[in-house]
Amino acid sequence: MDNNLKKLIIECPKAELHYHIDCISPELFWKFSQRNGIKGSVESLQDAVEFFNFQTLDEFLTVMLTAISSIQTENDFADMVIECAHDMIEQNIIYREVMFDYTACYGHRGIPLNTVINGFSKGLKLAKQRYENIDIRFIANLDRTAPVNDNCKYINELVKYRDMIPLIAVGMDMQEIGHLAHKQAEAFALAKEYGFNLTGHVGEVVGPEGIWDALQSIPLDRIDHGVRAVEDEKLLELLSEKEILLTLCPASNISLGVYPSWGTFPIKKLLNSEVKVCINSDDPPCFHYDLTGNMIKIAETFDLSQPEVIELIRNSFVFNFAGKEHLNDVDTWLKKTHQI
Ligand code: ADE
Ligand code: ZN
Repeated sequence: MDNNLKKLIIECPKAELHYHIDCISPELFWKFSQRNGIKGSVESLQDAVEFFNFQTLDEFLTVMLTAISSIQTENDFADMVIECAHDMIEQNIIYREVMFDYTACYGHRGIPLNTVINGFSKGLKLAKQRYENIDIRFIANLDRTAPVNDNCKYINELVKYRDMIPLIAVGMDMQEIGHLAHKQAEAFALAKEYGFNLTGHVGEVVGPEGIWDALQSIPLDRIDHGVRAVEDEKLLELLSEKEILLTLCPASNISLGVYPSWGTFPIKKLLNSEVKVCINSDDPPCFHYDLTGNMIKIAETFDLSQPEVIELIRNSFVFNFAGKEHLNDVDTWLKKTHQI
């Protein structure tokens, strides 16, 4: 691949909009297991590294939830934010929207919501002292497999913590098969009443019908994954008309068998359509490619041009929930370094 393009991907200020903070690294999994006296799942860091082994979305979610069960205290949540911030610095990511799923990952184990939020808040303060120029916002994902009434109760609880962390959106994750989005319409309507932006995982393992179902029942501002919209021209037209960004996660889709190889990921068709897309890492400890790694691999595999790479990078700034706050930073950098 062209070295200048690779350098641009590495050095350009970036934003990431689809990143699950719940999916901890093997290092944190091992650290929390020791610190919290958890026996049974891993006996060493090497065990923790080898633990992330799966083929399907169901297997992945089971593995991820087991690692997550090592997370227990406020300090653990703070460490997660600090690690996230450190990773941002390493990759020149200046803005990241970080998802967490309280219900699926913590609530069912009896961890109070205020432990999670206090920990995030503490981590954010420490990270801001340690690192300059990083902006982290939070997206509260609903567990789509939970009853909608429980999710409504959760949202009513969540709003009480709005001032403690920058909570900008409500999203939705976990197993899509058998749990179409419309089942959560009432919870999303409530989140919208509270003024949250709305996003959700659809069109990941379910085809275009999952995206149609979501768009017909929920006023989504954005779609996480949504990659399978590529199979339906009418849907692509609607997404472009509504300017709904798709937060694509190529390494995740390849790891989970949505696409058999990098070469079959439909980035070219999406870039050639009018639909807005950006690149993300989803759960990097599990899928082994961070944002920069995903971008380089996609640019390399499809021989992307410089304008295509810049479009992918800029889309994460143009369509994020902070409202173009950081677009100027990336444009200034591009002007200075590439006279663009
Ligand atoms: N939670 C974390 N990663 C996810 C994914 N790719 N799909 C659904 N739920 C998730
Ligand atoms: Zn995701």
